[in-house]
Amino acid sequence: MSSDPDTRKIEMHYTPPTSDTIQTKPFPIRGERANFVNKPHVIAMVGLPARGKTYISKKLCRYLNWIGINTKVYNLGEYRRHATTAYQCHDFFRPDNIKAMAIRTQCAMDALNDVCQWLESGGGEVAVFDATNSTVERRQLIRDIVVKKMGFKLFFVESVCNDPEIVEQNIMEVKVSSPDYTNMNKEEVLADFMLRIEHYQEKYQPLDEKCESDLSFMQTYNTGEKVLVHKHEGHIQSRIVYYLMNIHIVPRTIYLTRHGESLMNLDGRIGGDSDLSDRGCEYAKALGNYIAEQDIQRLRVWTSWLCRTIQTAVHVNAPQERWKALNEIDAGICEEMTYEEIESKYPSDFAARDQNKFSYRYPRGESYEDLVARLEPIIMELERQGNVLVVSHQAVLRCLLAYFLDKNADELPYLQVPLHTIIKLTPVAYGCKVENIRLPIDAVDTHRPKPKIPGYLEERFRRKGNNHHI
Ligand code: SIN
Repeated sequence: MSSDPDTRKIEMHYTPPTSDTIQTKPFPIRGERANFVNKPHVIAMVGLPARGKTYISKKLCRYLNWIGINTKVYNLGEYRRHATTAYQCHDFFRPDNIKAMAIRTQCAMDALNDVCQWLESGGGEVAVFDATNSTVERRQLIRDIVVKKMGFKLFFVESVCNDPEIVEQNIMEVKVSSPDYTNMNKEEVLADFMLRIEHYQEKYQPLDEKCESDLSFMQTYNTGEKVLVHKHEGHIQSRIVYYLMNIHIVPRTIYLTRHGESLMNLDGRIGGDSDLSDRGCEYAKALGNYIAEQDIQRLRVWTSWLCRTIQTAVHVNAPQERWKALNEIDAGICEEMTYEEIESKYPSDFAARDQNKFSYRYPRGESYEDLVARLEPIIMELERQGNVLVVSHQAVLRCLLAYFLDKNADELPYLQVPLHTIIKLTPVAYGCKVENIRLPIDAVDTHRPKPKIPGYLEERFRRKGNNHHI
């Protein structure tokens, strides 16, 4: 002990930090997701039918929810279908069809009313109004309600598309299966839908920076060939612009895999930077063979900076990039420990993590929520790319999968990402097709499902004698 009286005083009052008191970042260890939105936002789509408005709306909604902004899409077509079965053919959308026009206007008002109620009640932060909103008059009406009456922020997103091939492709991909067309074949749907577009075209007024100079908006031309941004306001709108500038619709496939089984996996330890086990090395060879057999055009391979992912990708014959952002979640003071050791050394942390696994931050480490923030540039770059194989880690791949499969923060930390399995993601219509390709090499099972009793460690994770416990 120091002989200096001041230091001695400090030493006497000093209580060593525990896992409950250590905070390495100025955020609580447990708590709510960070909130980026001070004022509710309405994102109103604009554009002729079959311009990808619903695709953009759903994708944007998935992205915003993934980054922690509570977002919901309100689709006007669904309101119309709910309100009336009057749709027999394109005639319904003729501008001189007075009866139908009254129904359509009422549906738009009902949808907007629901949007405003949802935002006002605090149910959510961003509402996407997915409708054509194709006239100046309609957009001014939306502005009057959303901005003047409710005091919310409003941002219009217009999809302009003059390429007949893209329009036809869109109709064939998504409109043929629309509930409007249950009794028609593909050719009839195409013909009817083209006439529907013509009716809208008669009155269509694209967003115009001169006569609508008061509006905040962006326009994206021919699926991102060119983007125009007008008077965007604030953080949310900037993020939306940035995101929509990066997405594309060129068909491609994303392959996700964890590293092969590692020495630490064999020992039931989390984190660390160990080499692959013998079975992990076998998986690396099998992965190389599988990818070669697929003959994937212009494939790129991304790994983390950790040995086990780099060793796993060693037999894959394609250009490789290393991303530190793809490193496994940082388990802080629990790095390289087994669950059993964490449970006995830090029981309250162990239980807290079970209570809210998404928000729980390992002392001096990261939470899943931190990980999502770290992975945002990866998602943005993945959106820009063609075919990519991502070789990473369990927690990281859970976050990426949650983005592609639209899983919420409660489900995310428990998503199944087994070792020695390739997860193949193919974009289809408004979502993603997912296939799990299990390569025939045994591996330990590292998945711990959500326990019924927080803090209770299941028997299979306990060390029995000298046996490995996973
Ligand atoms: C619809 O009724 O299908 C769409 C209405 C619209 O957005 O104009």
